[in-house]
Amino acid sequence: MAPTGTRIFLTGATGFVGGSVLSRLIEHPTFEHAEIWVLIRPSKKDKIPALHSLGVKTVLGSYDDLDLLEDQAAHADVVFSCADADNLPAAQAILKGMKKKHERTGVQPLLFHTSGTGVLVDDAKGLHSTDIIYDDMDADQIDSLPPTQMHRNVDLAILEADRDHHIKSYIILPPTIYSQAKTKLVALGVQNPSSIQIPMLIRAGLLKGQGGLVGKGENIWPNVHIDDVSDLCIVVYENALSGKAAHGREGLHFAENGEHKMYDVSKAVAQALYELGKGRSPEPEPFTDEDYNRFGRENLEYLGTNSRCRGRRGRLLGWKPKYTAEDMFKSIKPEVEYVIQHEKT
Ligand SMILES: NC(=O)c1ccc[n+]([C@@H]2O[C@H](COP(=O)([O-])OP(=O)(O)OC[C@H]3O[C@@H](n4cnc5c(N)ncnc54)[C@H](OP(=O)(O)O)[C@@H]3O)[C@@H](O)[C@H]2O)c1
Repeated sequence: MAPTGTRIFLTGATGFVGGSVLSRLIEHPTFEHAEIWVLIRPSKKDKIPALHSLGVKTVLGSYDDLDLLEDQAAHADVVFSCADADNLPAAQAILKGMKKKHERTGVQPLLFHTSGTGVLVDDAKGLHSTDIIYDDMDADQIDSLPPTQMHRNVDLAILEADRDHHIKSYIILPPTIYSQAKTKLVALGVQNPSSIQIPMLIRAGLLKGQGGLVGKGENIWPNVHIDDVSDLCIVVYENALSGKAAHGREGLHFAENGEHKMYDVSKAVAQALYELGKGRSPEPEPFTDEDYNRFGRENLEYLGTNSRCRGRRGRLLGWKPKYTAEDMFKSIKPEVEYVIQHEKT
């Protein structure tokens, strides 16, 4: 259990992942003894009254406000950084603050950071799969990832701070997160309910007027339901509080529960777009050069990468994901309907 007076600082509260984690934290027994401070950007300040009504405290600012991040982290016992897995200056400011906290109190504050299995990607462009599967119980294998991989510079800065004994770090690496979040914070209009990857494929299809495909869609990604991601964060949090969870290089957790071939997701998106009158055919058609130029080559090529892993560490701590790849496929049509209804493309 968190000791009385525990102060938690969380970033990304209005986001898909951070809002889901915050929703779980305010229902967690430790909330009774804790104070949760969340970072809110000025453009979202209208969300502040709803957060206050839940007993959450807010600080106005962004990842550009490095002094503020350092100061918040310097006063926190626990930090959840769920805002941006690629912002190194922000991560360094948070780590600097946490180091100060350690130097002042002698206690290592806990950092729970959202990274992603984007750290594992290759350059397949949808043309082939891979047999390389990363195992989160194999720290040597993860150590072999080049520092140039996506998210890795931030993860490495965190691991260094753990190695220097300033913090205890727990990194959660979700893959393709699916389904709309249905949390208290979504109901209050505070939180973005939508994920990134499948909505991106849907938007690209809407722009094309037809469900699209990167290369041949031969590449493979793992998947996980948003509720299972927040479950994993809570399982790791509880095990960290009781000293049972490993940290640092032994504290990386792949949040996967199954995997899919990108062709099958592209096919499900094309089918849904077709049924909703937004596609010419239920069969996905390869994105053309024109599509790449209109939608952003980097975004589409990302959808053609491989990222394969096994998440054993969280399961050993007691994580029991409830949803499977079948649930992901069922979530696609409602996601297409949501994107059509809510966004101009
Ligand atoms: N969704 C996925 O499938 C997935 C999978 C793996 C990894 N991840 C990683 O997890 C992280 C969160 O993803 P998400 O899906 O929750 O994204 P999201 O719904 O877009 O949420 C991002 C959150 O971070 C905040 N934020 C972004 N930039 C910020 C900045 N410069 N300063 C302060 N706050 C900032 C946003 O605030 P505003 O509301 O003000 O914009 C929002 O609260 C990302 O790094 C993402 O790469 C996501």
